[in-house]
Amino acid sequence: MVSALSLCAALAGPLVDSRAQKLVASMTQAERLQLVRGHLARPFRDPIPPGAIGSAGFVAGVARLGIPPLQETDAMLGIANPGNVRPGDVATAMPSGLALASTWDPQVVYDSAAVVGDEAWRKGFNVLLGPGLDLARDPRNGRNFEYLGEDPLLAGTLAAAAICGIQSRHVIATAKHFALNDQETGRNVLSADIAESAMRESDLLAFEIAVETGQPGAVMCAYNRINGIYACDDAHLLHDVLKRDWGFKGWAMSDWGAVNDSGAAANGLDQESAAELDQLFNGAEYFNAVPASLLANMDERILRSMLAVGLFAQPPRASPIDYEAHAQVALRAAERGIVLLKNDGVLPIAAATTRIAVIGGHANSGVLSGGGSAQVIPVGSAAENGAARDGVVYDPSSPLDAIRAGAPDARVEFADGSDPGRAAALAKQAGLAIVFATRWDAENADDPDLTLPNGQNALIETVAAANPHTIVVLETGNPVTMPWLDRVRGVLECWYPGQKGGEAIANVLFGNVDPSGRLPITFPATERQLMRPALPGLAASGKPASAPFSVTYSEGGDVGYRRYAKQNLKPLFAFGYGLSYTSFRYGGFRIQQTRPLTVRFDATNIGNRAGTDTPQIYLTQKAGVPEMRFIGFSSVTLAPGQTQQLSLVTDPRLLADFDAAANVWQIRAGTYTVALGAASDDLETSATAALAARTLPP
Ligand code: BGC
Repeated sequence: MVSALSLCAALAGPLVDSRAQKLVASMTQAERLQLVRGHLARPFRDPIPPGAIGSAGFVAGVARLGIPPLQETDAMLGIANPGNVRPGDVATAMPSGLALASTWDPQVVYDSAAVVGDEAWRKGFNVLLGPGLDLARDPRNGRNFEYLGEDPLLAGTLAAAAICGIQSRHVIATAKHFALNDQETGRNVLSADIAESAMRESDLLAFEIAVETGQPGAVMCAYNRINGIYACDDAHLLHDVLKRDWGFKGWAMSDWGAVNDSGAAANGLDQESAAELDQLFNGAEYFNAVPASLLANMDERILRSMLAVGLFAQPPRASPIDYEAHAQVALRAAERGIVLLKNDGVLPIAAATTRIAVIGGHANSGVLSGGGSAQVIPVGSAAENGAARDGVVYDPSSPLDAIRAGAPDARVEFADGSDPGRAAALAKQAGLAIVFATRWDAENADDPDLTLPNGQNALIETVAAANPHTIVVLETGNPVTMPWLDRVRGVLECWYPGQKGGEAIANVLFGNVDPSGRLPITFPATERQLMRPALPGLAASGKPASAPFSVTYSEGGDVGYRRYAKQNLKPLFAFGYGLSYTSFRYGGFRIQQTRPLTVRFDATNIGNRAGTDTPQIYLTQKAGVPEMRFIGFSSVTLAPGQTQQLSLVTDPRLLADFDAAANVWQIRAGTYTVALGAASDDLETSATAALAARTLPP
């Protein structure tokens, strides 16, 4: 596996700081203010600002000094076109964040992000408002589909790869939403309450890894409060943690309408985005009167990032986009991110299958995508098959067509699933039934529960009762419960698989590619296993609270699988889990050295077809105390019979506690056990070493 770090070429030359300072020195007060105030770039109350292309945001440049404007677009999953502000403009729809995270492969994420960066640049944008990497603390968070799962090492590493992919195209990446925007319900009024050490070890660690490895030009502070203070007004978060402790040299921009206080600039916010929204929601424009020395620093940070990422030297140029080539990148990412959850020998589909019933999920027209600011209007969507249904966009890649193409001699029939009886009758006549089940997620709302909506569980039960060879293909933005699991023969989680999702699904179903996805998020067995059974801030009426409320993250750093391990809960499918059509064996696991803690082992493909595996390392004992923490991984593609030796260096912060009083990472002296396995609940072999006490800078 290629490491995220090796994907990140150092973009910034040594001169960017002094060049930024010189530019600021030449700017008038009005110009300095102009650069720290962003505007909506879609029609709202006013038309879009002069010079804006039309997108989420715009910041005017300073022509006389050659400072280009910032043209800001959403986001990591493809170039959005909010409200069709650029009439008819489409873009490659990448697989969703959870699909990308399921690849556990920085190279795949980098490639996908580089495509999005390339499309941004060729459409005239120089700032991309992604990646998002809030941790999946709650599997009902409506934006989990945009993010990278529940673990800080995985999310941080993959976000870094995304940042480097985007910035390789001279487009600034924005790590968002900083921080703890871990649910949508009441996001503008809630306070995420959590201990300092716990947030440093979890949500903030994801950002820390992403920022230090990826060096994004910008970080976007979140809507919510943290321990009572709005994230965009939080001097501790922005000044102490981001800028001082992590040495972040870029700028902090606000989320859209997230500035609530005129002191925000003094507290570390460098740029107000979409000032019109702050005016509307929060009563004022905040960046009109900022003290001169502070303003100079804010501008310097913005200009430094612009210089470092190449916005002056390589300005965006309207130019043709190779959508065909980009679709192939989307296809490969989707294939890699599909997770095979269950396979009772029914997959890959046997060549001899003569009749296949495809049911539900609009599988005849496309694959589901997620909604909100990340929504992409996919290439090909002008055609009738990609049209939005009730605001829900299906990327025009029909699984039905792809299955037909994959089984040209079979009779492949479709029932839309609206009538379970009809679907069951069709399934009964077929050798194999494939039910497509979907759940749509979007920004600004969470899932009320983990249930597949619209009677789809009943549909699956009915079809499975009619045909003993039933497979379920899920297109969801979050985990779902599966009451029918024992009655179906196979399950694929495809997330929102993007522009070529249908083809990717068919390629996995037919075994043209080996399923290699691993879960970046725990699938609970029931809602009772959730940390907060009732979604905080959701009234009985189903409406989100508008009055301030707190979400107490008393699980602290024990997000996802860590809490399942500590509380001895058995999930439906564990973090790290995913099947392949071949099998792998590990051997020779040992600790090679203790500083930094480095492990070595062999991975062998013991099956008879090629496949990609993701061996995982977990810390199971920390200073003599039982622990559960993901500390390393590698993705490796092996031919049948092939063995590869792997050596993994772990990040010492993952062995440490964050000591909030001393503001250091503290490795305690004692016995440490690390285990190798195929998932967080499937650890095969372990090794133990004594470590000396050690402190590390924050
Ligand atoms: C979202 C951000 C997005 C911004 C601009 C906000 O509502 O939270 O993720 O980048 O809008 O569209």
